[in-house]
Amino acid sequence: MEKVVIVTGANSGIGLALCERLLTEDAQLRLCLACRNARRAEAARSALLASHAGARVDSLHLDVGSVQSVLAAAQEIKARYSRIHFLYLNAGIMPNPRLDAKALFKGLFSRNVARMFATADGLLTQQDLVTADGLQEVFATNLFGHFLLIRELEPLLCQAGHASRVVWTSSGNARRSAFSLQDVQHRNGSEPYSSSKYASDALSLALNRHKNSQGLFSSVICPGLVMTDLTYGILPSFFWTLILPFMWLIRFFTNTFTLTPYNGAEALHWLFLQNPESLDPRAKYHSLTSGFGTNYTQPRQMDIDDETSDELYSKLLELERVVGRQLSEEKKLAR
Ligand SMILES: NC(=O)c1ccc[n+]([C@@H]2O[C@H](COP(=O)([O-])OP(=O)(O)OC[C@H]3O[C@@H](n4cnc5c(N)ncnc54)[C@H](OP(=O)(O)O)[C@@H]3O)[C@@H](O)[C@H]2O)c1
Repeated sequence: MEKVVIVTGANSGIGLALCERLLTEDAQLRLCLACRNARRAEAARSALLASHAGARVDSLHLDVGSVQSVLAAAQEIKARYSRIHFLYLNAGIMPNPRLDAKALFKGLFSRNVARMFATADGLLTQQDLVTADGLQEVFATNLFGHFLLIRELEPLLCQAGHASRVVWTSSGNARRSAFSLQDVQHRNGSEPYSSSKYASDALSLALNRHKNSQGLFSSVICPGLVMTDLTYGILPSFFWTLILPFMWLIRFFTNTFTLTPYNGAEALHWLFLQNPESLDPRAKYHSLTSGFGTNYTQPRQMDIDDETSDELYSKLLELERVVGRQLSEEKKLAR
C-alpha cells in the first residue's frame, strides 16, 4: 500500500531537504507539499520531480497561521487521501529576530560559545505580531495551526489497527523558562519562538498519552543549527559565510552544527524508518553531525512533566472551541 506523507513548510530549507531524502528512500511515496506560497511550492515540486522522475508529488495550499486556511486544507486532504501515514509539522517562523550584540560579543569569548550558537540562548529577542484571527503569530504558526490540523485530520490519523505518525520540527531553543501555562501564546514575553517550540514538545507528549491507543504517535526533533532562510533572517548570509570555517572547526567539539538542510533533516528521515512503538515519547531526536561530517540521530530527554503537557493540551482544546465559535459567528454575520 502506498504511504501518504504530508510535509508542512516543504518549499525550502529543512522541509524541502526532507522531501528529497524521503523520495530517495521510497520512490512509491505519495508526497504532499503543504505550503502557503503557491509559486514556491510549485518550484519545489518541479525540483523534486526533476531529481525523482515519476515520483508522485502533490501540492496543497496551507497557511498554518490562518485558521480558515487550515480548515480548508484539512477538507482538501480528506477529499484526496483516505489515510495519512506521516504528517511532518515543519513550517515555522522566527519573525524579526533582534540580535543582542552585547550578548553575542560576550559569548564569543566565553566557554559557552558553542552552546550559544547551537541554541541561540540569550542571543535573540523577537517582536511578535497578531494574526487576523487575533492569535499571536508565532504561536499560531509554529503550534496552534498544526494542532488544529491534527484535530481536523484525526479521522485519517486515528484508524484502528494502523499506526500514523506526526513529527514536529522543534528546536534546541525550546526552553521551559520561556514558556508559561498562564500565557501559552506568549503575549507578554520577548521569546515567542522558544515558547512555541517548548509548547510543541509538551504537546507531543500529551498527544502520545491521549492518542497512542488510537494509533497516533507523535515525535519531536531538533535539526541543529542549519543555514536556511530562517537563519539568514537572524544575520545576513554573508556573515554566516564569513564564520563558516569557524563553525566547521567547532563541529569537532559539538555535534549540533549540522549546517546543511540535508544534515538537519537527518532525524526527520531517521524517524521515518523507525517502528513507532520503539520510540521514547519523552525524547527529542536530534540531528547531529560529527567533525568528519558523519550524520546520526540521538535521543535526548526533554525537560517536560505530564501535568504541564496535559494542561497545555486542555488549553489548546479550549482555544479550538473559542476559535470555532468565533468563526461560526463571523459566518452568520456574513450571511
Ligand atoms: N534553521 C535552523 O537552524 C533551525 C533550528 C531549529 C529549528 N528549526 C525549525 O525548522 C523548521 C524549518 O525551518 P527552516 O530552517 O528550514 O527555515 P525555512 O527555509 O525558512 O523554512 C520554513 C518553512 O516554513 C514555511 N512557513 C512559514 N510560515 C508559514 C505559514 N504560515 N504557513 C505555511 N508555511 C509556513 C515557509 O514557507 P514560505 O516560503 O511561505 O515562507 C518555509 O517553507 C522550522 O520549524 C524552524 O523553526 C530551524
